[in-house]
Amino acid sequence: MKECLEKIESASSLEILENLRVETLGKKGVLTLEFAKLKDIPNAEKKAFAQNLNTQKTKVNEAIEKRKIILEKEALNKTLESEKIDVSKFNNDLTCGAIHPVNLTMDRIITYFQNLNFSVEEGPLVEDDFHNFESLNLPKYHPARDMQDTFYNKDYTLLRTHTSPVQIRTMLKQKPPIRMIAPGTVFRRDFDITHTPMFHQIEGLVVDSSDKISFANLKHVLEEFLVNMFGDVEVRFRPSFFPFTEPSAEVDISCVFCKAEGCRVCSQTGWLEVLGCGIVDENVFKSVGYENISGYAFGLGVERFAMLIHNIGDLRSLFESDLRLLGQYK
Ligand code: DAH
Repeated sequence: MKECLEKIESASSLEILENLRVETLGKKGVLTLEFAKLKDIPNAEKKAFAQNLNTQKTKVNEAIEKRKIILEKEALNKTLESEKIDVSKFNNDLTCGAIHPVNLTMDRIITYFQNLNFSVEEGPLVEDDFHNFESLNLPKYHPARDMQDTFYNKDYTLLRTHTSPVQIRTMLKQKPPIRMIAPGTVFRRDFDITHTPMFHQIEGLVVDSSDKISFANLKHVLEEFLVNMFGDVEVRFRPSFFPFTEPSAEVDISCVFCKAEGCRVCSQTGWLEVLGCGIVDENVFKSVGYENISGYAFGLGVERFAMLIHNIGDLRSLFESDLRLLGQYK
């Protein structure tokens, strides 16, 4: 017995310890076999015999538990030692990430408008018909809904097709005056060389009393903005149609690639369309319960800006995660 306990105390691994346990307490273990003899022991000696065995069993169990704790601790220390990480060690393979050109552009536009005291607002990507269409003067069956190929969900919600619904949400929760932009992702059922099903927009909205809002004001703000983004460009406003603005305009800049000489990118026109804008339609204000108030709004596609600023020819390359392209923006 003494020998057995010594073996346990000096067991050098958990595996050896487990073998010792089986040898003594297992089905065919030394002690187990001793217990089996109990039935042949004369009654008078039974009690003492059993007590002795139980004491031995307890001793063995205790010794095993004690040794087990020590060996487990040793094993843990060994693992910790072998998996130690030297955080101060210099890693020569360190590759530094870069900010995606779409995010770079987005951040730049956001900062520009924040400096002009515009707040940055957000809205949900899963929208309802009211916020995405109805309240923006796009009633059901209005032909202008065809301008936006919508992803509908089974429960009549939809993936927002533009960031304009954030205008509505902001007007519903705030009182005028409002100066806001809403950057974010939008979704349309469209996939070809110049369209991706998900892309980014930035919406702008300014609401104030009618003496503070004018088309001239809108024109000035956007001209300054576009010159800041694209440098020395001409800016022109073309009459257009959007259901949520009246009058509406599309804004072009002179082609940054050919200096308005005419090239493939501008389809030989010398102009590139970059923005939609206009004076907020009365019906939009009606849908949020605003009265005697004026406003202007604008919306732009961030990918288009990113491509023009960074001279990227193919829209799809912005979504391919090709490090040869993305690595250039460190
Ligand atoms: N929501 C329009 C679109 O997705 C963009 C837009 C145009 C927003 C004119 C505006 C605006 O606020 O005034 O095509």
